[in-house]
Amino acid sequence: MSVAEDVQSLESRYILQLYRRTPIVLTEGRGVVLRDQDGREYLDFISGIGVTSLGHGHPALVAAIADQAQTLLHTSNLYFHPLQGQVAERLAALSGLPRTFFCNSGAEAVEACVKFARRYWFSQGTPRPGFVALAHSFHGRTCGAVSLTWNEHYRQPFEPLLPGVTFVDPDDPDALLAAVSESTAAVIVEAIQGEGGVRPLSPAFARAVGDACRRTGALLMADEVQCGLGRTGHPFAYATLGLEPDLVAVGKALGGGVPVGAALASEAVGGALTYGDHGSTYGGNLLACRAALVFLQELVDGGLLAHVGRVGARLTAALDALAARRPSVVTRRGAGLMQGLELRTDAAPVVEAALRRGLLVNRTAQTVVRLLPPLTIADADIDRGVALLEEAIADVEKERTA
Ligand SMILES: Cc1ncc(COP(=O)(O)O)c(C=O)c1O
Repeated sequence: MSVAEDVQSLESRYILQLYRRTPIVLTEGRGVVLRDQDGREYLDFISGIGVTSLGHGHPALVAAIADQAQTLLHTSNLYFHPLQGQVAERLAALSGLPRTFFCNSGAEAVEACVKFARRYWFSQGTPRPGFVALAHSFHGRTCGAVSLTWNEHYRQPFEPLLPGVTFVDPDDPDALLAAVSESTAAVIVEAIQGEGGVRPLSPAFARAVGDACRRTGALLMADEVQCGLGRTGHPFAYATLGLEPDLVAVGKALGGGVPVGAALASEAVGGALTYGDHGSTYGGNLLACRAALVFLQELVDGGLLAHVGRVGARLTAALDALAARRPSVVTRRGAGLMQGLELRTDAAPVVEAALRRGLLVNRTAQTVVRLLPPLTIADADIDRGVALLEEAIADVEKERTA
């Protein structure tokens, strides 16, 4: 594996060095396969961190984007266009939340939810300063979203951030019940924490969240940027825990690779907002909405949800079997096509060994190998990916004992 000198030297001169990139240059993709500039192929089990939900080069998405580019790309939110309402109608049907604000990323969706929660309490005449977030949470890098993100490394250099954020251990329902009060504007949860190590919330903790919000009136914000929109075989992962959020942040999968995020709001929260309270120049432009429409059509009408349910069960079973066979694996966590293997040691060598064998996965929370393949993945590719991952794990186990 090598990065062409021209690519690397140009980047090292002009790009802010914020990402520790894997040393390959990707140039093409088809379905679940990516190709680098040397023609080497990789099975894509990370899909741009849960973004290329329909795989690479999906014919309907490609055709819609090309058609929209020819027709009209962008008009701003100064004017109406025909597509925003259509996407919002579909999101409302899936979530039960009738109001959508469009933005361009997951962090912006969370940021919008934070502002909407604040605005809601302001309009009640009883401003509430507090937010309750969870240990191991990740909500994005804008100042509001990073204030709710647990990892100190992401927060500390940028302080002072939003005041009044309390972090609670998601294994401690009593701590949550104690932390949420009548000065809490909102509680924010990921039903399955992604960057935190693919950690599903327990049903007991979810019950405590529901109880605390009902008791105090605090709003519930579900961050479904990574775990939502079909990733687990369900429209939204929070619904599998019986949670009924007032605000939901989505992104990633929604555009299939075209940047689009959205904050979904209840009628009560939406009703508290008025012209000028929030906005985005690009938010919900024609290109983004056209891509989102294709994705949502595939998800619901195209049978993708049912497909993820089926292949997700296959991936779960295959990873459980792998975990039982490999001594360096502690456990498997996750649901559907959002899976993590927790290792006894740093996951980086396994990710590197997988790359050498032509499989793209990534490391999160230091010891977890994370898998987020395209939602369109077929049985045979699930089997191939898990076989390659097991070989990579075996390579590293062998190196360690050598
Ligand atoms: C749960 C969650 N929320 C928010 C974000 C931020 O999304 P973005 O990187 O699109 O801003 C992420 C990104 O990984 C995420 O996983």
